[in-house]
Amino acid sequence: MAVLPALFGLLLAAFVSGQNVDITPREAVRRVGDEVTVLCKVAYPIDSCRMTVGKVSYRLLPSVQEGDVVYSGQGLEQGECGAHIRNVREEWNGLVECVLPPSTGSIEIVGKMALVVARAPSPPLLLAPPQPVFKEGDVLQAQCVVAGGRPAAKITWMLDDIQVVDGLHQPIITSEPGSDLKTISQNITRHLLADDGNRRLVCKAEHEAMDQPRFAQRQLQVIYPPKRTEPGPITIFGLKLGAEGRLNVTIRANPPPYVEWTVGDQRLTPLRVSEDGTITALEPEALGNGYYNCTLLLAHIAKEDVERTYYLKVTNDLGAEEFAVRLSTMDEPAGVELGTGAIVGIVIAVLVLLVAVFLIVFAKATDRWCFGAGRNRDQTKSSGESTPAGDVLLESRMQPTARPSDTESAVAGKERSRLAELTARVRAVLPKGKDKVQATEAAAGESEDKPLSDDKKNVVYAELALGEAARDKPPPETTEYAQIVYTTATETAKPAEENKDKET
Ligand SMILES: *[C@@H]1O[C@H](CO)[C@@H](O)[C@H](O)[C@H]1NC(C)=O
Ligand SMILES: *[C@@H]1O[C@H](CO)[C@@H](O)[C@H](O)[C@H]1NC(C)=O
Ligand SMILES: *[C@@H]1O[C@H](CO)[C@@H](O)[C@H](O)[C@H]1NC(C)=O
Repeated sequence: MAVLPALFGLLLAAFVSGQNVDITPREAVRRVGDEVTVLCKVAYPIDSCRMTVGKVSYRLLPSVQEGDVVYSGQGLEQGECGAHIRNVREEWNGLVECVLPPSTGSIEIVGKMALVVARAPSPPLLLAPPQPVFKEGDVLQAQCVVAGGRPAAKITWMLDDIQVVDGLHQPIITSEPGSDLKTISQNITRHLLADDGNRRLVCKAEHEAMDQPRFAQRQLQVIYPPKRTEPGPITIFGLKLGAEGRLNVTIRANPPPYVEWTVGDQRLTPLRVSEDGTITALEPEALGNGYYNCTLLLAHIAKEDVERTYYLKVTNDLGAEEFAVRLSTMDEPAGVELGTGAIVGIVIAVLVLLVAVFLIVFAKATDRWCFGAGRNRDQTKSSGESTPAGDVLLESRMQPTARPSDTESAVAGKERSRLAELTARVRAVLPKGKDKVQATEAAAGESEDKPLSDDKKNVVYAELALGEAARDKPPPETTEYAQIVYTTATETAKPAEENKDKET
């Protein structure tokens, strides 16, 4: 505020003089003709009291109470030197000083306060680029200027009666050189909404010298293409066969929309009735603020009317939108309507469930959970020793005898790397497209007895971990095999040899 430099000056003056005079108030805003009381106080009795108001220095005596500037206070002996100032005049705007005798020495001490004699500013000016109509989402920039006030006026922005707080810039206060009148200006930036249409943008100026606030305003117009007011499919409930039916759809558009209904292969507009004259499209009914009811009137609802889908196309200068409308002879289901939040929640829950199921299946398929390793170890031990070493059997069958069983983790680690290798190998073979994958589930005994495929080179046995069911059972005797049968010998010879190479 403007008084800050003045206050700073006062403090500085008090500091320089070295003598403190307690003056209250330090600042006052008064209109012309108002009154104000200023009081200076020191901690010792005084024998004189002077007050400078405007350019005149008044000698104040408690016994003299005539004129516009008179003594006020508890008495000189209390150290009080105050002034009751009546009929504040325009030219008194400025400092009011009290002059008191010092406690010691001969230099008088001075207290100062700022008296602001309010002066009404000019009416507010609302400045905005000349644009009669905005589109929804357009940015409105406007500036309000209230010039020549003392002190500066206060600006408030409103849309109709509602105060706007968003998008306001810092107010800027300026004054002409050599003048104590202040001009305030403030900018506003707003992304216009459909709801801002038909509202007034208002700059409200308030000032100490004005009994009533003053306003500058501007009517806003916002246009937008047709849109639904609520999401989701449109179903009109509660229709009765044989009775008249009204299909209401509430939409929003500015400028006003044109409607066209499509019923079967007929296109109906408010000017065009259906061939048999039983279906009529009504003019959109304005509900205010850009809302419209679009209604299709069915004279008698037949069964086929309920079964088909109606299409409502709404058009204005900015665009077109088409909605499908269905009918139902049932009452509107109560309480079934889900809010958007609930729908989103359900969708998320389903997604989470799907991801969880996928992860479980994936973990099982690749045997990547922690307890998979332990279980698998037992299996490979029991089965590995008893299985005849096939031509292309994977290293799990070769290794168990050689594998040291030192620590759990080492074994588990090895197991995991083996599995990873297995997975990689199976994957490397699979994409060839012509391969057949057969899973054979057999008891351990069976697997021992079971003769390997005729053409051993064309079969890969991949050991699979058993599912949950096997977990609580005693160490499983069963082993699952994935039998990968190659159809061409040339293709399969290679991976088989590669495997052998790696194993050695
Ligand atoms: C306010 O807007 C006016 C014109 O619209 C512009 O000249 C001025 O720089 C703006 N001031 C601020 C602080 O944004
Ligand atoms: C459709 O609007 C009319 C008024 O125009 C009202 O009487 C009728 O109940 C409304 N129908 C539905 C299904 O909302
Ligand atoms: C407009 O249509 C809605 C249904 O969409 C209905 O509830 C309302 O009563 C209708 N209003 C008028 C004024 O017809």
